[in-house]
Amino acid sequence: MTMETAPKACVIGSPISHSRSPLIHGYWLKKHDISGSYDRIEVKPDQLDGFLDRIRQGELAGCNVTIPLKELTFEAVDQTDDQTRRLKSVNTVYMLDGKLCGTSTDGAGFMANLRQTVPDWRTRSKHAVILGAGGAARSLVEALINDGAATITIINRTVERAEAIAADYPDRVDPHGWYAIEHALPVTDILINSTSLGMTGQPPLEVCLDGLKSTAVVTDIVYTPLRTELLNQASSRGHTVVEGLGMLLHQAVPGFEKWFGIRPEVTDDLHDLIAADITGRQ
Ligand SMILES: NC(=O)c1ccc[n+]([C@@H]2O[C@H](COP(=O)([O-])OP(=O)(O)OC[C@H]3O[C@@H](n4cnc5c(N)ncnc54)[C@H](OP(=O)(O)O)[C@@H]3O)[C@@H](O)[C@H]2O)c1
Repeated sequence: MTMETAPKACVIGSPISHSRSPLIHGYWLKKHDISGSYDRIEVKPDQLDGFLDRIRQGELAGCNVTIPLKELTFEAVDQTDDQTRRLKSVNTVYMLDGKLCGTSTDGAGFMANLRQTVPDWRTRSKHAVILGAGGAARSLVEALINDGAATITIINRTVERAEAIAADYPDRVDPHGWYAIEHALPVTDILINSTSLGMTGQPPLEVCLDGLKSTAVVTDIVYTPLRTELLNQASSRGHTVVEGLGMLLHQAVPGFEKWFGIRPEVTDDLHDLIAADITGRQ
């Protein structure tokens, strides 16, 4: 089957109704007057191979992938890049030279958001402290190291998960349990929450920032609510803060470019549209 003139893409996962990706890509399709489409499709793990064949056959240009399919998709695609092979997780699928390719754009989305909000972050951020050691944390470690952070401390409830990430980055990443926060804060240049704590419907993230280095940047990848308690606390202490919504918007850019042929921009208008949707659903 050949590609239809109007390219189609979508986000897959289960559940999928919460995904804001259709709103983001729909905004860019309209802005660039592209007659393509971007939908959400419920795909369960045992349906993944059948769905990916639809992309191989040209029915769709590609897709974004969310929970619980990211690791399974990594296993199922024909080709990945070095970074994605280290992460073993795929959130963007596209065709190139007849091959089904998978990549992970979370790390690039995080860095683009950080650079946009704190252009001089690199000179300010030699030592990063990441709370959490899940899938997102692994993407952040990879991106921060590739982009110039000197050292990283990972602090996680389950220290074995932090140790598993650190093992891939000898001499650069230091794994600890939750007890280490107090000692880490005074030497932190950038503090990142990558746990799900503080997200609407999840337990609060209970961290006291009293000992945090005064020049530290504080960022939270949780974006519901837009301003988490961590960011509120940091802001009231005078720290530069970076919201998680920007990461969500920036991670969508590479997929749109691959499927629809135009590199879209993350604008204030787009930010406000998604922010209004988040606020409206709270
Ligand atoms: N802004 C964006 O674009 C973006 C992108 C990706 C993810 N996110 C958000 O980032 C968060 C994490 O995503 P993920 O994919 O990394 O999830 P994940 O793989 O499930 O990891 C969850 C992390 O949160 C920790 N955690 C969960 N409940 C906890 C508790 N009660 N006490 C202490 N730690 C707890 C886990 O610690 P343990 O290892 O001890 O269980 C783990 O480190 C989610 O809220 C997700 O929505 C945002």
